[in-house]
Amino acid sequence: MELLSTSIKGFDEEIGGGIPKGSIILLSGTPGTYKSSMAYSILYKAAHKEGSMGIFLLLEQSMDSLIRQQEGMGRPMDEKAKQHIIVSDVGRIRAAMDKFSTDNDWMEALRSYVEYIVEKRDAELLVIDSLPVLEILSGEVNKRKFLFELFEWMRGLGTTTILISEKKNLDMEYGEEEFLSDGVFQLTLSPVGEVDLQRRIRCIKMRGMDHNTSMFALDHKGKGFNISPAI
Ligand SMILES: Nc1ncnc2c1ncn2[C@@H]1O[C@H](COP(=O)(O)OP(=O)(O)O)[C@@H](O)[C@H]1O
Ligand SMILES: [Mg+2]
Repeated sequence: MELLSTSIKGFDEEIGGGIPKGSIILLSGTPGTYKSSMAYSILYKAAHKEGSMGIFLLLEQSMDSLIRQQEGMGRPMDEKAKQHIIVSDVGRIRAAMDKFSTDNDWMEALRSYVEYIVEKRDAELLVIDSLPVLEILSGEVNKRKFLFELFEWMRGLGTTTILISEKKNLDMEYGEEEFLSDGVFQLTLSPVGEVDLQRRIRCIKMRGMDHNTSMFALDHKGKGFNISPAI
């Protein structure tokens, strides 16, 4: 089984070596818990270490704001990144829509756009940031139908897909997306004492892997992520 690095120092070892390629992974967490940054960091490392092509569908923020933040976190848009990471925000996807859809069907256009890049550029990695926004854009009122169709399409794509999802709090009941995904990472911002918050990560599910389910403190120092025991 080929594995993809989480790009978090020390974390691959905890989940059995990495993320099985071809799986659908859910990154679930509250705002500001490094979901987008972790997903970008995974694509960035795969581009630099393996020359893998990745698509980052950015539905929540502009391409400029993501790239600026990632540059600030030590992931500049160098040649490798430019060649291997295709960041598409809503503006860019809209611009491509005419080309890929005749009847202005947003999901149809998005699917064709992604399939085109997967085929023409051999993209192996796909990030969807985020699932709730995609659901809104899809206009589908039946959430289960939306999810089942989306997962069916993602499985057919053959990419390793990272789905970013919002969770208001940890106690919230699991949704359909947790059951459908092959792997789930939870990202949290947890109180430490009365004044501090600590960012944390744990892997609650990874099909086919003997993984640790413990919480780890997640830090970003200098140019990358690392974990340490949660306090
Ligand atoms: N240079 C930096 N180094 C470390 N952390 C940063 C840096 N710049 C911004 N951040 C942190 O990144 C957080 C946002 O990360 P992001 O990946 O966008 O989170 P999410 O997608 O989960 O909302 C901000 O709340 C901020 O605290
Ligand atoms: Mg985000």
